[in-house]
Amino acid sequence: MKKLLAALLCLALLSGGSAALADTIIMGTNAGFEPFEYIGEDGQPAGFDIEIAKLIAGDMGMELKIEDIYFDGLLAALDVGTIDFIMAAMTITEERKEAALFSTPYFDATQAVIVLEGYDGIKSIDDLLDKKIAVQDGTTGYFLVTETLNVSPSNVAAFKASTDTILELKSGRVDCIVIDSPVAENFLRAHDGMMIVEGLDMAVEEYGAAVKMGNDELLAAINATLEKIMADGTYAALIERFFGGEA
Ligand code: ARG
Repeated sequence: MKKLLAALLCLALLSGGSAALADTIIMGTNAGFEPFEYIGEDGQPAGFDIEIAKLIAGDMGMELKIEDIYFDGLLAALDVGTIDFIMAAMTITEERKEAALFSTPYFDATQAVIVLEGYDGIKSIDDLLDKKIAVQDGTTGYFLVTETLNVSPSNVAAFKASTDTILELKSGRVDCIVIDSPVAENFLRAHDGMMIVEGLDMAVEEYGAAVKMGNDELLAAINATLEKIMADGTYAALIERFFGGEA
C-alpha cells in the first residue's frame, strides 16, 4: 500500500511539475491577427500559427511558452533573446532577412484593402495615394503604404493592434484598411458593413517562422516539423480547421 501511494505521489508530482522540469522554448507573437494568432475564449493564445508552434515544440520535446508582444517589437525581442522564435504571420522580406533567419515559407497571402460597403474610390493600388489609410505598425501593409507608395504620413493611421483599424474605418476617420488578405476576410466575417476591394494587383507574400541569426539548430527543427506536417496531412487539417478549406 505504501509503495502504491508513493508511486501515485510521484506521478502527481511529475505531471503537475512537468512545466518546471521540461525545457521551455519561447515563441513570440502578436495575438491580434485571427485566424493566425488571437486570444481564445479561455484567454490563451490560439490559432493556426499557435498550433504549428505547439507541434514544433512537441517534436523537440520542449514545453512551449508564448510571449504576446507588439508586432513591431518581435524582431528586437528575438535579437536580445527574450524569445527563441517568432510565429506571427510574418512575411519573409529582404529587410527582415538581414535581422533574422527564416524558415521554409508555410503560408501565402497578399495585402488586401478593406473599405466600407458601397465605397468605390479605390480601383487600383495607385488610388491609395491620396486616401486616408489605417494599418498595423511595422507590418508589410504599413511599409507598402508608407514606403512603396509613399503616402503622406498625415494620411496614415498606424496602430499597435491590427483590430484597432476596424473602428477607424467604421467611424469614417480613414477611407480604408490595408492588411493581410486572410485577416481581412476574417474581419469581414466578424463585422458588417465592410468589403474587400477586388481586383487590386498585390504582390504575393510568404510567411515564415523566424529565429535569431546563427540559431541554425532551431531553424532546422522548425523546418523539419513544417516538412513533416505538410507531408502527413496535419497541415491540411489545420488549414481546414482555421480557414474552412480555403487558404
Ligand atoms: N504579414 C504581415 C507582416 O509580416 C503582417 C503580420 C502581422 N502579424 C501579426 N501577428 N499581427 O508584416
